[in-house]
Amino acid sequence: MRAEAPMPGNAASLAKSGAAPASSPAQLDATPARHLYAGHDPARAVTVEDLRAMAHSILPAFALGYLEGGAEEEQTLARNLAALAAWRFLPRALVDVSQRSLATTLFGRPMPLPLVIAPTGLNGLFRAGADRMLAEAAAEAGIPFTQSTMSNMAMEDVAAGLDLRHWWQLYVFGWPSVTEQLIARAERAGCEALVVTIDAQIFGDRAWSGRHFTRPGHLTWGSILGAGLHPRWLAATMLRRRGMPVFENIIEFVPREHRGFYDSAFWVRGQMDKGLDWDKIARIRALWPRKLLVKGLLRPADVARAAEAGADGVVLSNHGGRQLDSTVSGLDSLPEARRLVGDGLTILVDGGIRHGSDVLKALALGADAVQIGRATLYGVAAAGRAGAARTIAILREEMDRTLGLLGVTSVRDLSPDVLTR
Ligand SMILES: Cc1cc2nc3c(=O)[nH]c(=O)nc-3n(C[C@H](O)[C@H](O)[C@H](O)COP(=O)(O)O)c2cc1C
Repeated sequence: MRAEAPMPGNAASLAKSGAAPASSPAQLDATPARHLYAGHDPARAVTVEDLRAMAHSILPAFALGYLEGGAEEEQTLARNLAALAAWRFLPRALVDVSQRSLATTLFGRPMPLPLVIAPTGLNGLFRAGADRMLAEAAAEAGIPFTQSTMSNMAMEDVAAGLDLRHWWQLYVFGWPSVTEQLIARAERAGCEALVVTIDAQIFGDRAWSGRHFTRPGHLTWGSILGAGLHPRWLAATMLRRRGMPVFENIIEFVPREHRGFYDSAFWVRGQMDKGLDWDKIARIRALWPRKLLVKGLLRPADVARAAEAGADGVVLSNHGGRQLDSTVSGLDSLPEARRLVGDGLTILVDGGIRHGSDVLKALALGADAVQIGRATLYGVAAAGRAGAARTIAILREEMDRTLGLLGVTSVRDLSPDVLTR
């Protein structure tokens, strides 16, 4: 469950003393217990939390640890939810909201929803063909899909035959030749944007996930046995594909003796360019002729610097709480970043987006659009393409309803005055 604001003192003491009136709000003392839907039909998921519960019922512990886990004490992970929860709406009264619009423009192109699917690696761990399923759901909704360097399908296949805004996320490793080859390939594949992730040159310590390995690349016997006890996951991944996924886009760079699934992931980790700096971003800018975003910034001054380096946009992000622990959330930095760069730079933000109201808060604070990471992964793990589509549909419904309740007719009209802390 997401972080809740502390229970107001009076209600808390009433509830604890047992003297709470029968009509006391259910969520304050968790009675009656609320149940999430964890069955098989994505159409029955009412919230993203239901899709999350469905995913949890399918995935073995090691895949779940990878999906959910944050770094170290997970304070950054928690901050992402808390930062969103700290903002409260101040609805505009008596506004005619009979017509409402969620449409916006991103890089000059109209878009029906202010959403972008964030890059996530190892998607094949959740379902065979998950990258393509996410791409299909994105294309159907008219929103961009960002494919990770560590994805499990060739970038040419992910978008084939789809009317997709296909973005390519670049991890800088094996600099400069690997970078140059991947950039050239993304250009040939027709990608609209290159998203350079800069916050993972040193891999975060994801303890939850790490405990499933005896040493780099080797799952514990317990994790392997546990996976064998998850038949639905086995059927949707290993049996369907006949084995572990492959990092299709970078495997050619990995030495033959390291080409096992986890072994190659750990090998790439070791090759990440720890000398990545602003000069290299400028060189990537010179190589890439289309839209360029820098992902993983948290300091407003760095957002201004990205604009100077020639980026068209940034993603304010702490990598879903998976890298440096105890950071601010991207949302925390958003108002100041927007103030510094004005309207001249596209700003996306991510971290903890699970509700339509979360998206509206980010837009009101100055984001052009919002990236979703785990939300669509829950969907795809739960029910493949239909699950990913259900995530987007839930967020759409929630955004539309919240916009109306807020007294705003278009997401373009959201501004900080609808929020208070
Ligand atoms: C399972 C998983 C894998 C991820 N892999 C990548 C990746 O390959 N490249 C990247 O730039 N970010 C990666 N991220 C971070 C996401 O792009 C995004 O910043 C983050 O998920 C947003 O937070 P949220 O999951 O709370 O929505 C990953 C996140 C998750 C949860």
